[in-house]
Amino acid sequence: MYNLLGIELKSPIIIGSGPLSYNAQAIKKLFDAGAGAVVTKTIRREKAINPAPHMALTTNNSLINNEKWTDVNPETWINREIPKLKDMGVVTIVSIGHTLEESSELVEKIEKAGANIIELVSYDYKDLIPMVKDTKKRVDIPVIVKLPPRIDDIGNFSRKLEKAGADAITACDSVGPAFRINIETGKPLLGGNGFGWLSGEVIKPIILHKIYEIKKKVNIPIIGLGGCMTGADAVEMIMAGANFIGICTAPILKGENIINKIYRDCLAHLERLGYESIDEALGIVQKNLGKSNERTKFQFVYHEDKCTGCKLCEKVCGYGARKLKDTMEFDEDECRYCGLCISICPTKALKAIELENSYEETL
Ligand SMILES: Cc1cc2nc3c(=O)[nH]c(=O)nc-3n(C[C@H](O)[C@H](O)[C@H](O)COP(=O)(O)O)c2cc1C
Ligand code: SF4
Ligand code: SF4
Repeated sequence: MYNLLGIELKSPIIIGSGPLSYNAQAIKKLFDAGAGAVVTKTIRREKAINPAPHMALTTNNSLINNEKWTDVNPETWINREIPKLKDMGVVTIVSIGHTLEESSELVEKIEKAGANIIELVSYDYKDLIPMVKDTKKRVDIPVIVKLPPRIDDIGNFSRKLEKAGADAITACDSVGPAFRINIETGKPLLGGNGFGWLSGEVIKPIILHKIYEIKKKVNIPIIGLGGCMTGADAVEMIMAGANFIGICTAPILKGENIINKIYRDCLAHLERLGYESIDEALGIVQKNLGKSNERTKFQFVYHEDKCTGCKLCEKVCGYGARKLKDTMEFDEDECRYCGLCISICPTKALKAIELENSYEETL
């Protein structure tokens, strides 16, 4: 069992607020599929009317969307959906947005309806401190704050939130604004004004950096959210500093069976790497950072038996330092040790002794 702010969870995987958590029945399905907790679609004073279309696939395993908040009235959530979730024993985190006026009006009613935890979210991050202060005065249940990634000093801002009473941080919301255009028609892929927000695989590196920055500054739990599609992604989030793993795009694109798969694969990776628990791997990257620009060279190893002759390494070397002829020729004077040839080699025929295993599971 895992403990999130005093609540027992059967899994560290938490479903982020999104289209799959549109009502109680849908949330129960995710919970039954193995989620430790589920965050509702964001509730506001008025229900949303969404443009059509409002979701599109962008690059692999990634989405662009301009879906707004819930299209269900707050009264329906308060009088019917949240009480249903309580009766069904689902650990429910209720997402509330996006202004102080709205959170002030809603949080007590949401607590009374049976929410386990509240998650505050806002389009303007400056609203979050007044929202958390006000909410903490009004309710006894824990309060999580979900951050947009576009905050300059996200670490220190998170510390301010911790001081203001936030019990945990969700890092982060989707990344944007972003835009895609259908070249056949010249129209945006999405309806409305066409601008949207990115989620899924494409945002993972940005989110990992946010988690890392936040972890350095706060002592409250972090729910990593953004780009986790696999068990290895989950381990990366943990190593950056996430205590819990959020997923939203993964079950949208792959179905709810991905929830338990990510969990099982994450545990298998941790075991393989010698960590007995999430806590043992938590934030481990902090210990392994070099001083900036400290390494100027490394030593290559070329395994001829693994080389398929694809010449990708040669092609990506902008300095012409690598040529595959009868054997691999290497011009040490031209090489800038950028590492791209190692990173791109599909069979790991090319490695660097110092970076051994660095690219094994993460690419
Ligand atoms: C279609 C869609 C709708 C979303 N709606 C909400 C929402 O109502 N409230 C919210 O806080 N986040 C919302 N999100 C953001 C997700 O909760 C999550 O922060 C983001 O997708 C990054 O995680 P992921 O890469 O695992 O999807 C939405 C995401 C998607 C893809
Ligand atoms: S990228 Fe790897 S497999 Fe392809 S030629 Fe270079 S060393 Fe060989
Ligand atoms: S490390 Fe960079 S510069 Fe050196 S051979 Fe590889 S791709 Fe070329």
